[in-house]
Amino acid sequence: METIRVAGSQFPALALRRYGSSDQVVVLLHGFPADGRLWRDVAPLLAADFSVIVPDLPGVGGSILPEGSLSVEDLALAVKTMLDELGVPKVVLAGHSMGGYAALAFAEQFPELLVGLALVHSTAKADTEEKKEQRRKTIALIEKGGRETFIKQMIPGLFSSLTRERKPELVQEQILQGLEVAGAALVKFYEAMMKREDRTKILENTGFPVQWVFGKEDTLLPLPQVLGQTNLTDVSFISVYDNAGHMSMLEQPVQLAADLKRFGQYCYNR
Ligand code: MLT
Repeated sequence: METIRVAGSQFPALALRRYGSSDQVVVLLHGFPADGRLWRDVAPLLAADFSVIVPDLPGVGGSILPEGSLSVEDLALAVKTMLDELGVPKVVLAGHSMGGYAALAFAEQFPELLVGLALVHSTAKADTEEKKEQRRKTIALIEKGGRETFIKQMIPGLFSSLTRERKPELVQEQILQGLEVAGAALVKFYEAMMKREDRTKILENTGFPVQWVFGKEDTLLPLPQVLGQTNLTDVSFISVYDNAGHMSMLEQPVQLAADLKRFGQYCYNR
């Protein structure tokens, strides 16, 4: 793992993992409550064809949580800061769930840097009022010391029933990864997600292709609620996985790596 420290930046330390050595770069952003290890099965499979960069977003793993409030725009800026330091001019940016919200904010702020955008179990819509209320309750629970309860309750629901039954170790591993995230970071991520804007307009005006990855058993973002967004973009790659919930990078890593590779190659060669 490498760590980047930029003098004067709002991000005291940004950690990342790098695989491969191509000048075609794919960046993989993890979701909540995880860190770059989430992509451990997918990143090496892409490394034969791309340089793969897997950051820890600020607040998890080796990346320090900045002072003050956090927004998905801040997460996007952290990625931009990292790319500038690495001298990377263009990327295919893939974001899982909250990482997708950050990737959409990146697409809004720095469209000229994007060759393609992959949204893996994510959405361009803002939180509904119901979702915001649910998040407020979770923040209250965490602030009362219920961090562990929350993580242990939420993580199993991210996986398909088959994964829970046949690969309980994956669920356990994510619970442990989630338990490493400090309560203050969990709260700031939730606040960032609650205040994020609807970014469907971004999809209507992209100059780059968009890939969509869905799990048939994703209860966080059920297929009927998100599939409609795929019509907004000019070029959409769509993958829908059986036996996957919200976590296809762990539940279907070989298929996801193959789909990301096909998308990345299309983006760089069109
Ligand atoms: C994630 O998987 O990154 C988050 O749970 C997404 C969310 O809460 O909206």
